[in-house]
Amino acid sequence: MKATAVAPANIAFIKYWGQKNPKINLPFNNSISMNLSKCFTVTSCDFSPKYLKDEIFFEGKKIKENQEFFIKIVKHLNQVRKLAKSNFKAKVISANSFPSDAGIASSAAGFAALTLAASQALGLNLTQKELSVLARLGSGSACRSIPDGFVEWKKGKNHKSSYARSLAPDSWWEISDIVAIVTNKKKKYSSSFGHLLAPTSPYFKKGLNLLPQRIKKVKKAIKNKNLELLGQIIEEEALDLHIIAMSSNPPLFYWEGKTLEIIKKVREWRKKGLPAYFTIDAGPSVHIICEQKYEKIINKKIRGLPGVLKTIINHPAPGAEIKK
Ligand code: PMV
Repeated sequence: MKATAVAPANIAFIKYWGQKNPKINLPFNNSISMNLSKCFTVTSCDFSPKYLKDEIFFEGKKIKENQEFFIKIVKHLNQVRKLAKSNFKAKVISANSFPSDAGIASSAAGFAALTLAASQALGLNLTQKELSVLARLGSGSACRSIPDGFVEWKKGKNHKSSYARSLAPDSWWEISDIVAIVTNKKKKYSSSFGHLLAPTSPYFKKGLNLLPQRIKKVKKAIKNKNLELLGQIIEEEALDLHIIAMSSNPPLFYWEGKTLEIIKKVREWRKKGLPAYFTIDAGPSVHIICEQKYEKIINKKIRGLPGVLKTIINHPAPGAEIKK
């Protein structure tokens, strides 16, 4: 009753921000993302009657039972146990390929890997759709880390109809996501808090109205491998997410000064003919999207900017997999 899974983080092109039903992470809108090849979580789950309680180890350290992290994982294990009609306790060992204090959202990779490893270990042979539905309960964006490559999460109407599916495999389009890390600090507010506050922004509804057109364009951009079209929409989406966060009540500021500096540079480089576009999730790190043929030169430029601590170059990646 043991299995190990690996799952990628993902970067949202169309953002999930705000929840219709926070209890089951049901979103207001469909969202679209790309899996990241160099930002992933490896998790192994071992269920056994010999364990008297759940034990969780993250990056080599045992997690205390009163920590929020522990509570969230056990809640998710309980969902899987319920499906498998099992009451065996588990030993969970998990690690990220990227520094967890780098401001990259790790919950998507973490809950996708946990869902696959735990369900496999308990002998549940779930379909990709069922895995995505289940991963969503851990963290909304985790449902997008189950399928391969470029992914759309259909908001659905209820628990079972809200899940993600692949729009195109990872091999479809040779683009890069260069993550520019600007801080070592843990992010200030959890995304759950941001989701909760989003509808308090006067711009929230307006943002939702813009989405059907944007989603159409992002799908078209992926289908036709049109970076210019993709770039235009992802920048609008990233700015709108932060406009909503900054105007919610209370306001949430995820950016650092360096975040804005990088945005300005990317736009400057583009004016000079270098095709690069930015997007930002709920943190200060900037994701720069470009074609793979430009990644070296763009990476060098980003690393040369003051305040950039580190970059991670990602390519599109497959979804969650069992590690043999
Ligand atoms: O899955 P959560 O609750 O961590 O929310 C993710 C929210 C964003 O990363 C900001 C946007 C997205 O769609 O991934």
